[in-house]
Amino acid sequence: MYRDPIQSLEALLEQPPAAAMRPLRVGMIGIGTVGAGTFRVLARNQAEIAGRAGRSIKMVVVCARSLARAMGVVGKEVALTNDPMQVATHPEVDVLVEAAGGTGPARDWVLAAIRAGKHVITANKALLAEHGNEIFAAARQHGVAVAYEGAVAVSIPIVKALREGLTANRIEWVAGIINGTTNFILSKMRDEGVGFAEALAQAQALGYAEADPTFDIEGLDAAHKISLLAANAFGMPVRFADAQVEGITALQGLDVACAEQLGFRIKLLGVAKRRKDGDAEGVELRVQPALVPATHLLAHVNGSMNAVMVKGDASGVTMYYGAGAGSEQTASAVIADLVDVARLQGIPAAQRVPHLGFHPEAVDEQLAVLPRAAVHTRHYLRVPVHSAQQIEAVGAWLAAQHVPVQRVELACDKALPKGSEPHVLVLTDAVAQATVDLAVHALAAHPAVAGPVVALRVELLEG
Ligand SMILES: NC(=O)c1ccc[n+]([C@@H]2O[C@H](COP(=O)([O-])OP(=O)(O)OC[C@H]3O[C@@H](n4cnc5c(N)ncnc54)[C@H](OP(=O)(O)O)[C@@H]3O)[C@@H](O)[C@H]2O)c1
Repeated sequence: MYRDPIQSLEALLEQPPAAAMRPLRVGMIGIGTVGAGTFRVLARNQAEIAGRAGRSIKMVVVCARSLARAMGVVGKEVALTNDPMQVATHPEVDVLVEAAGGTGPARDWVLAAIRAGKHVITANKALLAEHGNEIFAAARQHGVAVAYEGAVAVSIPIVKALREGLTANRIEWVAGIINGTTNFILSKMRDEGVGFAEALAQAQALGYAEADPTFDIEGLDAAHKISLLAANAFGMPVRFADAQVEGITALQGLDVACAEQLGFRIKLLGVAKRRKDGDAEGVELRVQPALVPATHLLAHVNGSMNAVMVKGDASGVTMYYGAGAGSEQTASAVIADLVDVARLQGIPAAQRVPHLGFHPEAVDEQLAVLPRAAVHTRHYLRVPVHSAQQIEAVGAWLAAQHVPVQRVELACDKALPKGSEPHVLVLTDAVAQATVDLAVHALAAHPAVAGPVVALRVELLEG
């Protein structure tokens, strides 16, 4: 469309200069790790942030349980309250930052803020995984934004990458290490040869794991995040309830060592993959400990770091790496969302970046999560046997059960505890989970087999 340059300039000059624009007024619930980091970074970098946002961003009210502690962080300039609803509906607040966590009350505060016409920013992945569809629908109805970059792999702008940077692509898959606690534990198990319980205790002692680490080690936290990424990648609602979730509590040090022998490392992966082949049409949405080739970039993401890979049909594979937790690391994402909200002034709701990357009418309500049985991957099997001679019998038996065996070998002495029976290690080609489940079940009854068979997925994550 032709635009008269003189008229455009005139229109621009009519806009208020950045300095004259009213500050974006923020109310925040919770001033713990994320809240305090957000306040600190906002104060420290206020000039740069205002320069980018086109206006200043000002914290006007904070809700905390301990007002004395909160005042120690925010000083006397910011109003304080014990009542979260007061912040959510405060007449002088333009945007609510929910930094308290939890799902029940947080849902009520966020919905109240939306109904009061406020934008909302949260890093609370549990809240959005469970109530995101309801929250995004309410936000659309009221013409406000809900932003959540901090909810997934905090310092990595992966939501922005999917919603904005990769919009040309049909996304084929998203996969990554999106829980720092479990990655720290798995790194310890591999590097120091310790078992899960000891690695967890070390993670707790160093502050990498909560006193109650259930959400992390059972894979739920990663499932919250991969559900949000899948929605943004494929144009589907948030389907956390349908995700297949397996944590690392049952993972044995023996399998970490056997994977190493085969040239792999075990990582807790979140995987969202679009499938349209044969009788399977839908999305694989899963979290599980999986073998990754030791030469793969993801295998070298250690300690509490996160990394996400995205395969787009045009971009090919891209990878994003950074801290998955931390006070200022999360603040970096929360403030980026604040800047986006500050820039919204004058932009009609329909023209904004949609909450889940796709405009509501383009979200495919029918796009479902495939059942576990239909998931199609390579597998690693560890089969304890009475005698090393039975290695061939195991391979033949699996082949007879329609498991496409690719490689069979004995676990070497270095991988096994002293006095252990022999273990046959098997790598398969891609095969449906249903076939593997049947074969493992049948193998358990085989006379050559001396104990429980372990099956883990293998992910090559190739372009
Ligand atoms: N920490 C991270 O690295 C990180 C990274 C990404 C996302 N997140 C998410 O960010 C959110 C906050 O996490 P966080 O690590 O900052 O937690 P946190 O350190 O425990 O801080 C939460 C704060 O909220 C306060 N709070 C809770 N309920 C409240 C209520 N009803 N009224 C007033 N204050 C209330 C708590 O007060 P008390 O201290 O009195 O309990 C606490 O100060 C969570 O959803 C988390 O999943 C955190």
